[in-house]
Amino acid sequence: MSSVTPDRSKVQPAPPGIMVIFGAGGDLARRKLFPALYHLMTDGLLAENFRIIVVDRRDRDAKDYRAYIDENARPHVSKAMNDDLWQELLQRIHYLNGDFQQANTYTRMSTLIDEIDRDYHTGGNCLYYLATPPDFFGDIATQLHAAGLSAESAGQWRHLVVEKPFGRDLESARALNRTLQAAFNEDQIYRIDHYLGKETVQNILMYRFANSTVEPIWNHRYIDHMQITVAESIGVETRGGYYDTAGALRDMVPNHLLALLSTVTMEPANSLDGNAVRDEQAKILRAIQPILPEQVLTDVVRGQYAEGVSSKGEPVPGYRSEAHVAGDSATETFVAMKVLIDSWRWAGVPFYLRTGKRLPGRYTEIVVQFKEAPNMMFRDSLVRREQVPPNTLVLRIQPNEGIGLSFNAKVPSTVPQLSPVEMDFSYKDYFGDGPTTGYETLLYECMNSDPTLFKRADVIETGWELVEPILDVWHALPPRDFPNYAAGSWGPDEAAALMSRDGRAWRPCKACSVD
Ligand code: BG6
Repeated sequence: MSSVTPDRSKVQPAPPGIMVIFGAGGDLARRKLFPALYHLMTDGLLAENFRIIVVDRRDRDAKDYRAYIDENARPHVSKAMNDDLWQELLQRIHYLNGDFQQANTYTRMSTLIDEIDRDYHTGGNCLYYLATPPDFFGDIATQLHAAGLSAESAGQWRHLVVEKPFGRDLESARALNRTLQAAFNEDQIYRIDHYLGKETVQNILMYRFANSTVEPIWNHRYIDHMQITVAESIGVETRGGYYDTAGALRDMVPNHLLALLSTVTMEPANSLDGNAVRDEQAKILRAIQPILPEQVLTDVVRGQYAEGVSSKGEPVPGYRSEAHVAGDSATETFVAMKVLIDSWRWAGVPFYLRTGKRLPGRYTEIVVQFKEAPNMMFRDSLVRREQVPPNTLVLRIQPNEGIGLSFNAKVPSTVPQLSPVEMDFSYKDYFGDGPTTGYETLLYECMNSDPTLFKRADVIETGWELVEPILDVWHALPPRDFPNYAAGSWGPDEAAALMSRDGRAWRPCKACSVD
């Protein structure tokens, strides 16, 4: 297989600046942010005069924190480790011991930013990264504003990066947006959905709009339906406390699943400009048919895992026995749903979405199933109709990233016989190493003031509007059959019924232990 090496000469390092990480003692900093900064550095994309301030309540200093990151972030670095470069990154860390809720933390931060700016010429640019529990988002933004740290003078930028969850329903999302927008302008706010940072998700637009063979058939005339599966084999691990108040719907649907759905269905934007792409995404999300309360009962399925076996064949506990989860919890760990989009392109095409914990494998894929060939010219031959399955295009988001097309071909023989065969593109074969954390692109784009891959306030709110009726109905009618699927299975039977009722079926997972 011929491999293709990206042409790095076209990519410039990001502008200088200071990244201020709030909640630097948490998982995100060690698992994603520092490995991503290191990957940017190895690719020459981090400015020489880029510095990092970590804000943490723990009474330690820069030296302790560097040792902590050295030990805890290293295992998450996926590119070859160059010790000198890694040490250089660690040396760029400044430590600010302080409580995010105290005004004096921000006064000291302001002084530190000025000092670093003077010593390292960071251009007055700051990226405030909120890697904290969501309850602090509003407060931190307000305090940054009060300390004068959100103001941008000519030629410099001050960006606020917020991780999900953005609220827990429409009302709280709106309230959070109002608070953030009172402290920063909308174009200074970068809301991360880490799915948009994944190479394979970005490639959906490239695949659709850089190939003349794709778009002509990307519509209701040729496509029967699409399936989006985000399956996880893990349970809730150490996050039971958060998860039990959120559930699979809030945790995955208004954000990641809708990000995939909008990318695969949006109209072409007239440029790659941040707002042009986001306008199209917002438009398609607004075109999704609202789910009426009575439809929640027929078109949305919820599930919770009971004990069972993990994808590795080991016995695992049920959700209600996980740490920090209520023994009688009504929280769903699985959701499947059918949605329709009211648009010229997608009239009558159903989109089936499903996601869950403790499923038989970890994989995310989008299946585009085409309509059957209109006329069976093989009718009078030995070829039977069921031997001619419709063509399927599978966008494999993770793992084994790639795109596969299955179509029918003649089996070599003297009598006509057909068999489905596959054409396969794999990222690894063409581009070598698999994708990195996804945060590299997001950080780089944020430093370059390009908001394309970040969620705008209206997109967030539209996501919540769509799931709000489901939350309401579920709240009014607590589940009576939980737990209703065994760990290691494909979720409750109703999820299969959601498709079989329409004469369709979920595509079996080839790489998983159970289909
Ligand atoms: C997070 C959810 O946003 O995405 C987690 O809170 C989930 O529950 C994770 O496990 C999945 O992300 P990825 O990149 O592993 O598919």
